Amino acid sequence: MQIPALPVELVDFKPEIGLILGSGLGFFADDRIEVVGRLPYDKIEGFPVSTVPGHAGQFVYGTLEGKRVICMQGRFHYYEGYRMADLTLPIRLMHRIGVHTLFVTNAAGGINLDYTPGDFMMLSDHINFLGTNPLIGWQGDEGVRFPDMTEVYDGALRARIRDWAKAHSVDLKEGVYLATTGPSFETPAEIRAFAALGADAVGMSTVPEAIVARTLNMRVLGISCITNAAAGISKTELSHEDVSETADRVRPQFADLLAAGVQLA
Ligand code: HPA
Repeated sequence: MQIPALPVELVDFKPEIGLILGSGLGFFADDRIEVVGRLPYDKIEGFPVSTVPGHAGQFVYGTLEGKRVICMQGRFHYYEGYRMADLTLPIRLMHRIGVHTLFVTNAAGGINLDYTPGDFMMLSDHINFLGTNPLIGWQGDEGVRFPDMTEVYDGALRARIRDWAKAHSVDLKEGVYLATTGPSFETPAEIRAFAALGADAVGMSTVPEAIVARTLNMRVLGISCITNAAAGISKTELSHEDVSETADRVRPQFADLLAAGVQLA
């Protein structure tokens, strides 16, 4: 598989920080970035083609807190039918043009009983429950074949963000994210099992991108927006609409946290 070429304007711009904006969090690019350019994914030859109507996305690049950033407004999910190597191609591409730090965001269900919808959780670690790995079958030269995963989410950067949160009275949680394929939500029995495995939150993304970023030795930071209590903990049925609604409600707080993270990176 080839890493696609990007327009010269974007390559010359030399973004240093990448942001993957998860479900309901794409607004960040429009609200907070001083936009220099946009690049729809379907204009990139060899890029995965969206299988879901309205699910197409774009790169938005510009400056934030004086840093050159590139955002993925819309990401690819395994449940959409992409191969792992394809859905993580954007990470390889961002690395190729100079991105050394990756912020990965997502919407997630809260398993930890201390979490309430609207909370933010910085990822301390993850559990790959996808049943596969994005490095399987990769034929290119870039990256370590057997990357170490002892500290996927950068400890020093997490400490700085933790301190910022404390200083600004932001109740930032920190915990373990477990990735499932979706797209069905979990059963209560699965959530009890995931809790026993040590998961604090559950979602359908992030882990593939984080693994590929680490094989490329990028610095990674993960932030979950806890949009709902996970199945069985929640007294009500789960729906994508409720997930989006919560993400929408905490927009300003999420944007402040992410912008602070970029500034501290
Ligand atoms: N489960 C899986 N993925 C999710 C959830 C959930 O409860 N909420 C948001 N994304």
